[in-house]
Amino acid sequence: MKAWSGRFKQKTHPLMERFSASIDFDKRLYRYDIEGSIAHAEMLKRIGILSDLELKEIVKGLKEIGEEIERGEFPFSDAREDIHMHIEGRLIEKIGDGGRKLHTGRSRNDQVSLDVRLYLKAELATIDKRLLNLLKALLIRAEKEKKTMMAGYTHLQKAQVVPFAHYLMAYYQMFKRDRERLKKTLDIIDVLPLGSGAIAGSTIPLDREYVRRRLNFSRLSENSMDAISDRDFLIETVFSMAMIMMHLSRLAEDFILYSTEEFSYISLPDELCTGSSLMPHKKNPDGLELIRGKASRVIGDLVSVLVMMKGLPMTYNRDLQEDKEPLFHALDTVGDSISIAELCVKKMKVNRKRMEESVEESFMPAVEMAEYLTIKGMPFREAHEITGKIVRVCEEEGIRLRNLELKRLKEYSGLFEEDVFEYMEPSKILARRRTYGGASFEEVEREIEREKSYCNS
Ligand code: ARG
Repeated sequence: MKAWSGRFKQKTHPLMERFSASIDFDKRLYRYDIEGSIAHAEMLKRIGILSDLELKEIVKGLKEIGEEIERGEFPFSDAREDIHMHIEGRLIEKIGDGGRKLHTGRSRNDQVSLDVRLYLKAELATIDKRLLNLLKALLIRAEKEKKTMMAGYTHLQKAQVVPFAHYLMAYYQMFKRDRERLKKTLDIIDVLPLGSGAIAGSTIPLDREYVRRRLNFSRLSENSMDAISDRDFLIETVFSMAMIMMHLSRLAEDFILYSTEEFSYISLPDELCTGSSLMPHKKNPDGLELIRGKASRVIGDLVSVLVMMKGLPMTYNRDLQEDKEPLFHALDTVGDSISIAELCVKKMKVNRKRMEESVEESFMPAVEMAEYLTIKGMPFREAHEITGKIVRVCEEEGIRLRNLELKRLKEYSGLFEEDVFEYMEPSKILARRRTYGGASFEEVEREIEREKSYCNS
């Protein structure tokens, strides 16, 4: 029998039963549903709705149900729709009338919002831990590579020489901000909706403050209609997941590129690659490609929940049940993707020699050549123009900037002296750059040292 069967003459159509069941995916909320129900029952006892004995039976019954689910012995059925009805229905089966009192002053509308919030608090803590592990892996790798030089790119064209560690720390900063974003998201989640009932609260004197303390929420929802109808906390969570995936996807794309024969900057761990069924020589970066591919689905999850919400009339509508699959998918995907990226950062091989050759084989020091002239008093625009001409000549003659003789440089400007060659040497450039946060050996060292205390706190 359905919990709401009282006003119905006809039975639910079997197709409707299957169509409306969410148990297949919302069963993962069971632990939080039980935790919330126990707190709610304790509160009902405090306000005199439940006797001592009834409370004891309810708590015992709920705990047994938790164990049944964990042992895989719990009977699930579409007829009971969702996890809330499953647990309540089973409780009534087990303890009878006491179980029928549990839902006093409560609706599935405030219950589901509570369950998801409890679930998210736990889940975001594990995502955060994974992010921290990724940060640590990046930091350790950066420390190892702090003297390695690489070409930095804009428009995927060689731009300026940078320490490879500076590149790695750029991703470190992105993932560090992702952690900060999770913290802010958690603050929005951390509100107790229970007590809002179906829409309006209750004439029963519910002690919401007790439940809040008991379930460790920092605040009570201030408006029952808002509490049961909005899902901004969930949408923000999916947004935070999409942002992490976007960052991971860029990292994946870089590593895919850098591991090609053409770049050969890194080689990826076999463990994260797969072979070809036809081409014996192939080692494909599937782990990273899947991160990039799965990022699109998590971004899709965000679109799903936003679009689900945007036209809903106040307050609760069953559409809201559709928030869970994108949410769960986003969380699961992000968790695994972070760990794949962490493994990759830890286990890839860095081809320092190849990276440094690629720095040599470039016109990148043109920037420093122009800066050299600027420091000697030439307006930067003029220095830029002159250096551009020199680059063109070198390109035509098939030589590097540093191989053009001084006397030829002097044809372009009398300011050039012998020391210009040293000024353009990549390792000297990285030693000379002074800008706070810039790509220099010293700055990346400072950044790494500072982040060590962040990672270990
Ligand atoms: N399974 C439902 C959901 O996820 C629970 C709330 C159902 N409430 C209702 N009035 N039918 O949204």
